[in-house]
Amino acid sequence: MKLYAISDLHTDFLDNWNLINQIGNYHQDALIVAGDISDNLDIINKTFDVLQNKFKYVFYIPGNHELWTRNEQHDSLHKLDTVIHLCRNRGVITQPYKFKHNWIIPLFSWYNCAIPLNTKNIIGAWVDYHRCRWPLTDIDLAEYFGSLNEPYLRTYEDTVISFSHFLPTVKLLPHPQDLKFERLPEVSISTVLAKQIKLIDSQIHIFGHSHINRDVFIDNVRYIQNALSYPRERKQDVVNLKFVLDLD
Ligand SMILES: [Fe+2]
Ligand SMILES: [Fe+2]
Repeated sequence: MKLYAISDLHTDFLDNWNLINQIGNYHQDALIVAGDISDNLDIINKTFDVLQNKFKYVFYIPGNHELWTRNEQHDSLHKLDTVIHLCRNRGVITQPYKFKHNWIIPLFSWYNCAIPLNTKNIIGAWVDYHRCRWPLTDIDLAEYFGSLNEPYLRTYEDTVISFSHFLPTVKLLPHPQDLKFERLPEVSISTVLAKQIKLIDSQIHIFGHSHINRDVFIDNVRYIQNALSYPRERKQDVVNLKFVLDLD
């Protein structure tokens, strides 16, 4: 069984929706989806319909787009619960899973950001600050999302392949001057995630969010991003699944 990775499917764009429908059949294989499918539950469900038809196993962690809420009644943590339940009900894997000598471990994360927000720490150009709604209590989002991984934070005797939506280190981003959005580092990095990747001794970590594809070694960990990204960001309209490793 082969393990593939992708992130940032953003299938609310018709072009992206059409592309994922063109993926061939990988009925013996597994796919990691490292967040940012859509904020729309119906589109998330339909995207899983397609992917679960093509892959034997689909692993997934929500990104920031999934937590956008247009519903005044519920906040983004409620949306997180809804998305996780949706996954459990349809067999999309959001918890650690062992294949022979390999553990695949999803890690929840959010970039370092304290709630409640005040005018000082709102980045007006960043949509999360308008579409995410948080409970009206003091909350450190990087710590809160990291705490959801606590049951799985231990050492493993086997190979560990972890994945998250956000980035554990700024080293995975180009220099701010080379970024289209100069403040991307402020809305991408979780130092809590970095500690957890180290704690579980991950050998390969898949991530998404920045829409900047990478395959690099940093401190003996192989970091991979393979984002489908927005149509305007792509040079070619093709889906390239990233082969990660053989799980057999
Ligand atoms: Fe994205
Ligand atoms: Fe994202």
